[in-house]
Amino acid sequence: MPPDIGLENRNKPIGVFDSGVGGLSVVREFFRQFPSEEIVYFGDTARYPYGTRSPERVRKLAMQNAAFLMDFDVKMLVVACNTASSIALELLEKKMPIPVIGVVKPGSHAAARATRSWKIGIIGTNATIASESYQKILESLNPNIETFPIACPLFVALAEEGWTIGPVARLVAETYLADLRGENIDTLILGCTHYPLLRSVIAETMSEGVTLIDSAESTVKEVGELLDNAGALRENEKPEHRFMVSDAPERFRQVGERFLGKQILKVNKVSLEDF
Ligand code: DGL
Repeated sequence: MPPDIGLENRNKPIGVFDSGVGGLSVVREFFRQFPSEEIVYFGDTARYPYGTRSPERVRKLAMQNAAFLMDFDVKMLVVACNTASSIALELLEKKMPIPVIGVVKPGSHAAARATRSWKIGIIGTNATIASESYQKILESLNPNIETFPIACPLFVALAEEGWTIGPVARLVAETYLADLRGENIDTLILGCTHYPLLRSVIAETMSEGVTLIDSAESTVKEVGELLDNAGALRENEKPEHRFMVSDAPERFRQVGERFLGKQILKVNKVSLEDF
């Protein structure tokens, strides 16, 4: 059983971490769906990217990030990074005294609800695809579901560079997704923090009948339901969000504004060794 949040904790912030800037696509959803919630965000920019690292390393980094956020008296933890959610969620759930939510389960649930053909494509980092996290959950939800996973690592760089439309993005999308187009999938999971920024080019590349599932959106919806059921939605009107990174706060601020769709006024650089 996951730990309870408790009414008395409702006005505490939600801790969100990611390997870097991408998790701001999850924060954007919080701002859209639950603007009263207060967010403490940590982007591990010094140790980014996670998508090419070994499972042991990702587990270690995720544990450190979660422990770091615990010091901010958060009521729950959201693992915005698909790679960390794929590899470290079980460990975090076991070790942390508060509820921990990753993006993989909510994304899989949303995809299983959306599909009619039982053929679901999954795109993510190398580590996410290799972990088979989405594949396992989908198959456990319904054994008739067939999955088509593809790692699309270049999408991450395109999103950070802001090359989300135009010929380069189109060519990369067509190259990665060529095989998927012949599989008659009707649902495609955007299983990486960065891919919602490439939504239009991905949609254009896939045929019209394919529903794109944004894990960020489904995750925040599920977090909201969990908080609501526990009576733990925040009541205060004016949240004071905090953004922290382990390196290069200025780049985070600049690139991050594209992910967040909003100005980021202040970013603090912290050293995890201090904690
Ligand atoms: N945040 C990562 C994810 O969602 C993408 C970037 C990385 O490789 O660290 O999988």
